[in-house]
Amino acid sequence: MSIIKKIENKIKKRKYYKKNNCEIKTKYISSNVEMGKNVKIGKNTIIEEGCKIDNYTYINSRQGMHPVYINSNTIIGKYCSIGPNSMIGIGNHPLDRFTTHPVTYDKYYVGDTDENTQQKVNMQGNVVIGNDVWIGCNVVVMQDVKIGDGAVIGAGSIVTKDIEPYSISVGIPCEKIKMRFSNTIIKEISKLDKNWWDQDLDYIIKKMNFGNSIEVFLNE
Ligand SMILES: CC(C)(COP(=O)(O)OP(=O)(O)OC[C@H]1O[C@@H](n2cnc3c(N)ncnc32)[C@H](O)[C@@H]1OP(=O)(O)O)[C@@H](O)C(=O)NCCC(=O)NCCS
Repeated sequence: MSIIKKIENKIKKRKYYKKNNCEIKTKYISSNVEMGKNVKIGKNTIIEEGCKIDNYTYINSRQGMHPVYINSNTIIGKYCSIGPNSMIGIGNHPLDRFTTHPVTYDKYYVGDTDENTQQKVNMQGNVVIGNDVWIGCNVVVMQDVKIGDGAVIGAGSIVTKDIEPYSISVGIPCEKIKMRFSNTIIKEISKLDKNWWDQDLDYIIKKMNFGNSIEVFLNE
């Protein structure tokens, strides 16, 4: 890409962020990342190609904390919170070759010609994170994992498999310790035509005037 094209893209991106009221404090966002409205991204966060980050999600927005890494093709829903020093969608090196070192597939070593070899190694993140998910600090989420709506991942966890919606999970490997809400409440949420994260902020703020509990959101 020419320098002029790069500068044009940068200006286009800045305009887009401003229009969508995003607060983006990092320069390390790949060009084809899709960003929703009111997204906050902290300093030095790295977001690789093909990621989608939906409305009101915030990623490590505090100054002076370690940045977050988000690998390619990660999809993150609305109103998620991702704590500092977390790594989302960490890929694996091949285990069945004479070496796990990238010498067998990275174009830095083998050149651009060996496409087959490169295609066989999938280093993309492909993680899917639902809405209203809170990922604490120092969390590693492995490749291809799905984290359900409303889930919480405790600080320092390593997430190796899919996480149930509204569960609170911790540890290495990350396991469920409890649920955020009762089964009755979770069923009621699933029956809503439109969940709270799909409503306008004005609607949400109006509800909050009655209190912050899930019961208020369901009944008021
Ligand atoms: C997961 C979390 C939300 C649970 O909070 P909680 O419901 O108040 O949990 P409790 O403190 O009652 O702990 C319940 C059990 O889980 C354990 N536990 C809690 N968090 C843990 C964690 N991150 N890793 C391992 N075990 C954990 C506790 O030791 C306790 O074990 P016990 O029953 O054997 O005594 C919280 O512990 C956490 O990790 N928060 C993330 C904080 C963070 O990273 N903030 C950054 C800002 S984005």
